[in-house]
Amino acid sequence: MADDIRGQDASGPDIASTDTSVVHRKMDDMYRLQRHIYDLSRRYYLLGRDLLIEELDLQPDETACEIGCGTGRNLVLMARRYPLARLMGLDASTEMLRSATAKIARAGLADRIPLVHGFAERFDPASAFRLDQPLDRIVFSYSLSMIPPWRESIDHALRSLKPGGQVHIVDFGDQADLPRWFRRMLFWWLDLFGVHARPELIGYLRELKASGRAEVDIRPVHRGYAFRADLRTKS
Ligand SMILES: C[S@@+](CC[C@H](N)C(=O)[O-])C[C@H]1O[C@@H](n2cnc3c(N)ncnc32)[C@H](O)[C@@H]1O
Repeated sequence: MADDIRGQDASGPDIASTDTSVVHRKMDDMYRLQRHIYDLSRRYYLLGRDLLIEELDLQPDETACEIGCGTGRNLVLMARRYPLARLMGLDASTEMLRSATAKIARAGLADRIPLVHGFAERFDPASAFRLDQPLDRIVFSYSLSMIPPWRESIDHALRSLKPGGQVHIVDFGDQADLPRWFRRMLFWWLDLFGVHARPELIGYLRELKASGRAEVDIRPVHRGYAFRADLRTKS
């Protein structure tokens, strides 16, 4: 269930917790200050986001939700690129949602992009965004690497789509083709922010493909620094 943007109180830091009140607190603690420099500092290392937006090819009236929308940076770019699509965003951090609300308002898009506080693994798009049909698209941009129940979140996203709907993912890759020192340094850096590259996620996507639950296309981005995955449910 998605919560009101003001959210609820939370207690007890625990990085791997799936208790939503703990996750809420953890994310707010992480982003309370960082959100002010987030877009500037991340633009050089969250690679592949712009290409994902470019390739979305959203059609008029298609609904697309970014899960873990952060500062709303991607949603604003998506709204400009696809002026007739219906966009919405969800995030576990009310602090991040404050930045997203302000950014979207500054872009003059407040009426077009509703935002809700909620959790990837359990939100209900129909009640959160007052939809009368399942979503057409769901985007995870560098959010699954922060979400311990990432499998549940992907499963939940697939269940939240119309037949033929799509999930689009961009996130950190395994860095296997990049120098070992670079990999070590990057993983150390990401760890400071509770972010974990998940090679097992690619394995899970391959399982989804093999089981026929979704068509799955996986591509490395910048020699495996990141990866892109596009999943399509059966029509
Ligand atoms: C690294 S940021 C990415 C933000 C944005 N998608 C981008 O590409 O710039 C990850 C975001 O995921 C959110 N997040 C973490 N756990 C979440 C969960 N369980 N459900 C929804 N959002 C979550 C965080 O609060 C944060 O805003």
